[in-house]
Amino acid sequence: MYVATSSSSETPLALVELPDSPLKPNDVRVRVRAIGVNPVDWKMREGGPLRMAYRFVGPSGPLVVGVDFAGEVIEAGASADLPVGTRVVGGTDFSRKQLGSYADEVVAGADQCARLPDSISFDQAACLPVAGVTAWISLTDIARIDRKPNARVLVLGASGGVGLATIQLSKTLGAAVVGVCSGKNVALVERLGATAVDYTKGDPLEAARALGPFDLVLHAVGTDLYPLGTCRSLLSKDGVVSLAVVRPSDALAIGFLPSVKTVLGKPTRKTLEPIVAAVASGAFECLIEAKLPLAEAEQAHVLSRKGKVVGKLLLVP
Ligand SMILES: NC(=O)c1ccc[n+]([C@@H]2O[C@H](COP(=O)([O-])OP(=O)(O)OC[C@H]3O[C@@H](n4cnc5c(N)ncnc54)[C@H](OP(=O)(O)O)[C@@H]3O)[C@@H](O)[C@H]2O)c1
Repeated sequence: MYVATSSSSETPLALVELPDSPLKPNDVRVRVRAIGVNPVDWKMREGGPLRMAYRFVGPSGPLVVGVDFAGEVIEAGASADLPVGTRVVGGTDFSRKQLGSYADEVVAGADQCARLPDSISFDQAACLPVAGVTAWISLTDIARIDRKPNARVLVLGASGGVGLATIQLSKTLGAAVVGVCSGKNVALVERLGATAVDYTKGDPLEAARALGPFDLVLHAVGTDLYPLGTCRSLLSKDGVVSLAVVRPSDALAIGFLPSVKTVLGKPTRKTLEPIVAAVASGAFECLIEAKLPLAEAEQAHVLSRKGKVVGKLLLVP
């Protein structure tokens, strides 16, 4: 197999050959057809808590970044329930000693993959795992929007991967959505069914206040820009702020305030299946900003770091 790896954020990602990873009984080996790029992929290269966690519990050898993949099963472990030839979407998990998804082949547990109907392309599917699952967990496990009639959701960072997933999955759960984005993305956010608030025109949180209160504020930007206290003041009585981006100054609030939660968008079959179903039914549109060869992964990280990607960046092995 070949993978994209680098020893530090200063060393560009480069393709190298590695021996095939061994398969556990519940694992599948997947021929990767498309890879979704997430900010965590370049954050992982930069040191900090994520890289430290990888050093402690991740696989040994070179750092292979990436989580999202879509492709076909080419080998199945003895107890894996996805036979060879199955089209799947999934996410790798370094805490299970798995290498990342920037590769022509990945090994992941069958429970980390969902079956893909023929109507969904590998490119569409690769948009879904981390961003979609982050939105889905926030909406369901964290805010229980699936059990609240007439719920209202506010998403900060509405035009990014997490934001667009949040808008569309909120609609499938019957919730009304408000999305904060820049002026150039207002038309897109509204086309997908949210009320857009343009953050370049005045204070977006005050503009959102008039459209609340909210059962969920999904914060995909950072509390340095949109303060946690103001976000909490926009909540309904049982509402919750779900932090996809955590700053060190959020620690006390996370520890002590029941209305503040962190979300970890770890793809599993259970969390991927409802998102795949939403795409299959036409309720979820996968927006792809650009598609690059895996050999140009470094360029994809340059683009992602700028924080202006609309929808998803994809890599193709
Ligand atoms: N905890 C987790 O498990 C988890 C999972 C996924 C993502 N995340 C984190 O969540 C963040 C968002 O992820 P993503 O995949 O959505 O990133 P992304 O796709 O790179 O997001 C880019 C978008 O952010 C928007 N944006 C930039 N500044 C903004 C601002 N001040 N207000 C509103 N929107 C702004 C940009 O739109 P404009 O051009 O309109 O500004 C752009 O469309 C990242 O930091 C990522 O690491 C965490």
